[in-house]
Amino acid sequence: MKKLLITRHIAEPVLEQARARFDVTLASAPLSVDDCAEALGAYDAILPTLGDDFTAGAFAKAGANPRCGILGNFGVGYSHIDAAAAAAHGVAVTNTPDVLTDATADIGMTLLLATARRAGEGERMVRAGRWGGFGPKVGLGTHVTGKTLGIIGMGRIGQAVARRGHFGFAMPVIYFNRSQKTVDFPARQVENLHDLMAGADFVVITVPGGAANAKLVDRDALAAMKPEGILVNIARGEVVDEAALIEALEAGRIAGAGLDVYEHEPHVPERLRALENCVLLPHLGSATVETRQAMAQMALDNIIAFTEGRPPPQKVN
Ligand code: GLV
Repeated sequence: MKKLLITRHIAEPVLEQARARFDVTLASAPLSVDDCAEALGAYDAILPTLGDDFTAGAFAKAGANPRCGILGNFGVGYSHIDAAAAAAHGVAVTNTPDVLTDATADIGMTLLLATARRAGEGERMVRAGRWGGFGPKVGLGTHVTGKTLGIIGMGRIGQAVARRGHFGFAMPVIYFNRSQKTVDFPARQVENLHDLMAGADFVVITVPGGAANAKLVDRDALAAMKPEGILVNIARGEVVDEAALIEALEAGRIAGAGLDVYEHEPHVPERLRALENCVLLPHLGSATVETRQAMAQMALDNIIAFTEGRPPPQKVN
């Protein structure tokens, strides 16, 4: 039996299928660079996820022809894997697109609504016994319906958020995407990031992580936002200059932020946690029972395809 390392507990039915076909080792904590190098030499296939550090250094340490032939990543984002280094070492990398699009877009809307309507703050108030009762000026937030929605990165998840905004909340949609992109619902592509930041009431980030988009939303981009603007990040923490965002929120230069992702997860800076004008979630984008099972299934199916000599359908490198 081929040896498969699954780096975190996954849905039971998928785990059972894996155990029927492979000699499975189940890990339970993120793999360091050294752990990754060791695993590349010890297993035929690995099902890793966010937090496992498959850097160029890990591949270099594992040597020219590691035993492992495939990393069937659990997750659509794979910026924790150096896919080019993997390819250079003969290791295929796959991901889990499509199955998590709706769940992730739903978290985008959850954050947008919760931040605009001060739901986090309100919840904390009720739980702490600090609510003094209904009042015409208690808990006033920002109206959502009809406001302009700006999407950074009009891929699958960006389009799913945009559809929710357009069809559900009558929001005019603008978007910034590096390549020309047409979509099948009303939405306008803007020339540059500045125009997006300046034109939107709500900015939702849905670009992939990794070096190409590191600190794409920097100090200048944040400065271009309207004072009543709200930033939502459901992509990767590294896409935003977190320190600049904290400064903008503290100074009240933007109205709020809804974040599902952070620069150094699971670390969330104390200064961010102290702010009332942001809603902070623990990377819940794809976290529904159905979606997480579908992701596990897709990751395993790619590994099975590879080990049976078929091309893995979601290969990215
Ligand atoms: C989750 O963030 C994923 O990339 O699937």
